[in-house]
Amino acid sequence: MMHIPSIIEKKRDGGILGDEEIRSVIAAYTAGGMPDYQMSALAMAIYFRGMTAEETASLTRAMLESGEAFEYPESSPRVVDKHSTGGVGDKVSLILAPLLACDDLWVPMISGRGLGITGGTLDKLEAIPGFRVGLSREEAMAQLQKIGVVMIGQTADVCPADKKLYALRDVTATVPSQPLIVASIMSKKLAETLDALVLDVKYGSGAFMKTREEAETLGSAMQAVGEAMGVDTRVCYHTMDEPLGRAVGNSLEVVESIETLKGGGPEDLRQIVIALAKEVSSADESQLEAWLDDGSAWQKFQEMVDCQGGDASELEKLGDLQRAKVIRDITAEHDGIIIAADAETIGRCSVSMGAGRSKADDVINPTVGFDQLIKVGSEVSTGDVLGRVHAANEAGVDHGERLLREAIRCE
Ligand code: URA
Repeated sequence: MMHIPSIIEKKRDGGILGDEEIRSVIAAYTAGGMPDYQMSALAMAIYFRGMTAEETASLTRAMLESGEAFEYPESSPRVVDKHSTGGVGDKVSLILAPLLACDDLWVPMISGRGLGITGGTLDKLEAIPGFRVGLSREEAMAQLQKIGVVMIGQTADVCPADKKLYALRDVTATVPSQPLIVASIMSKKLAETLDALVLDVKYGSGAFMKTREEAETLGSAMQAVGEAMGVDTRVCYHTMDEPLGRAVGNSLEVVESIETLKGGGPEDLRQIVIALAKEVSSADESQLEAWLDDGSAWQKFQEMVDCQGGDASELEKLGDLQRAKVIRDITAEHDGIIIAADAETIGRCSVSMGAGRSKADDVINPTVGFDQLIKVGSEVSTGDVLGRVHAANEAGVDHGERLLREAIRCE
């Protein structure tokens, strides 16, 4: 057993950790032999000191090997997936996973909860009453055989190290670290034993990477890890200066995803879904569009909800079932053009209203957030709705209004 404080000290002072040291830290943390306070200190040291490509590869491998990887029968279809580095209003996975399964691919998506100012796929799915994200590997395999798509979280047997470290990073300001992001994302994706992966790397105010340059460094690092493990890894880059789509907050984002799965939804969201799907699907763009427009992807989503403990027949009522206590229209005070809708401010506000966590054991409120958000470039007249705030009480809605007005610039 290595001496953990010495390993933290080495990284704090800018040293390079060896493969054995990284493996022993991850093994101890996963087994409960290293407390959260030591891992928090190490994560902060990594945040400030970074890691070499070799250290990052060791961390990814150690996190992958903390659990079991998926294994498929010889005759299984191509196995593909997508992962985003995180953004505000980024609900792409909820639409993309069932869409890809229309193409007779297998999509064994392992996702995470909210992280920093960004929402998480698992928290969104859990806004659907009864939806279970904690399936075992056996249950996930059986569902893949049946409908071709499953959306789960890290569990005791799949990426347990990421399950713990992810929750810790969320509340210790240690998310925007390239090696920690690479290891977190790629350990989950490699556990899926994929043929092909598309990574959606975000940059801008509502993303962890603020510039295109930082995003490209992160994208290339993840691609190198994926390719080294034999996965055809594609990288797409998208800006994240305003929220994606028009809704932010867990149940509000599921409602918007349902609209998009039924062929509607905001144009920017649909475009990103199609662009990412094209990277890993053998179907062409018109076929992918058709699966959204003819109800095939929506049908697949409903099958998935029914398989994972939800009730698909209730999905269209989700907006009423998960309705915030107070909803307020925020309207334009003068005519003009929207020149900014700052994703970071909106994401931070949504978390502080209860859509995300400030302590690891916080219970989130699935109903709060924003919808009907105005898009940059829109022309507005006095009295037009800039967005709606959904909050748990009057104080929350006042806070939401103040920050939404700060985020939106109209000139
Ligand atoms: N998504 C993840 O799964 N992990 C990160 O660290 C960031 C985004």
